[in-house]
Amino acid sequence: MLAINVMLWLQDGITWLLLPSNQSLAFLLADNGFDVWVANTRGTKFSRQHTSLPSNSSDYWNWSWDELVAHDLPATFKYVHDLTGKKLHYVGHSQGTLIALAALSQDQLLNMLRSAALLSPIAYAGQMTSPLAKNAAENFIAESLYNLGIFEFNMRGGSVIKFLKDLCNNTGIDCTNLLTSFTGQNCCLNPSIVNVFLDHEPQSTATKNMIHLSQMIREGTTSMFDYENRDENMKHYGQPTPPAYDMKRLPNDLPLFLSYGGADALSDVKDVQRLLEILKDHDADKLVVQYRNDYAHADYVMGENAHRDVYEPLISFFRLQ
Ligand SMILES: *[C@@H]1O[C@H](CO)[C@@H](O)[C@H](O)[C@H]1NC(C)=O
Ligand SMILES: *[C@@H]1O[C@H](CO)[C@@H](O)[C@H](O)[C@H]1NC(C)=O
Ligand SMILES: *[C@@H]1O[C@H](CO)[C@@H](O)[C@H](O)[C@H]1NC(C)=O
Repeated sequence: MLAINVMLWLQDGITWLLLPSNQSLAFLLADNGFDVWVANTRGTKFSRQHTSLPSNSSDYWNWSWDELVAHDLPATFKYVHDLTGKKLHYVGHSQGTLIALAALSQDQLLNMLRSAALLSPIAYAGQMTSPLAKNAAENFIAESLYNLGIFEFNMRGGSVIKFLKDLCNNTGIDCTNLLTSFTGQNCCLNPSIVNVFLDHEPQSTATKNMIHLSQMIREGTTSMFDYENRDENMKHYGQPTPPAYDMKRLPNDLPLFLSYGGADALSDVKDVQRLLEILKDHDADKLVVQYRNDYAHADYVMGENAHRDVYEPLISFFRLQ
């Protein structure tokens, strides 16, 4: 029995269970004898039971993915590791890959990790082609919401939708298909899965987390949250600019499975290639890289062929580690 942990962005763990049971990654792993643990990211509806902070307070939403790297991911790993006594295989999608890469670059998790599968990997976001995400970053949409006191970024909430509609109208982005405007043209979504998806997702995250993502898109760097203020940065980091996450520090012998898609507008091919360039000295027998020309962001979690194209090779990879 092996433990697995799966995580993603603006979505909760249910996303891994939306496909029919013979196609969904969580079920397939369980059917293959893995002990599967599905994690919900901070801010999603299953993580509202904070011991002291109400979820409508600004303090509750005062975080970005730095905190997921520093606290949530290590705590999740430790919980599963302590209970099972086993090292984990990890599956991350999108933000789930970013926080794992960032934590590993800081020598975290390694003592509890057996291997990692990164789907739609995001180590960098400077080449992101998603018209909606890119324009929102360039137009400082998340910053505007934050300045208006909207600390919960809720795609179902009126204020975020209004900002995005205005953005689409003013920039001429065709937002009739909001999912496609974000993710790129997914090849393999069954229309019925999109309805199931919208019953559950997208989920909230912190507006501050979206500001952090916007900084990555605008700057092309992957650093800690930038307070855009020398004194604030000094206060938080002891230096005038935020410290960078150094992907070169990923250990060369860590078993890694990476899959990226040619149509993915959030995990752009050029950004993934920047990561692959850094991984060129990785032990050859510890790195499996898969490229799916037709896949976009959502195909990796909801594509009707993903079980055959991605999950089967992924499970074979885990079996070998
Ligand atoms: C948060 O919600 C509670 C009720 O659940 C309400 O009493 C309180 O005023 C709300 N606080 C803010 C800042 O909206
Ligand atoms: C977030 O926390 C910092 C302290 O770490 C504080 O300076 C800041 O005012 C807080 N922001 C909000 C919106 O609560
Ligand atoms: C779109 O923008 C134009 C001006 O740029 C404005 O006249 C129009 O009312 C806007 N439409 C919507 C639906 O907001």
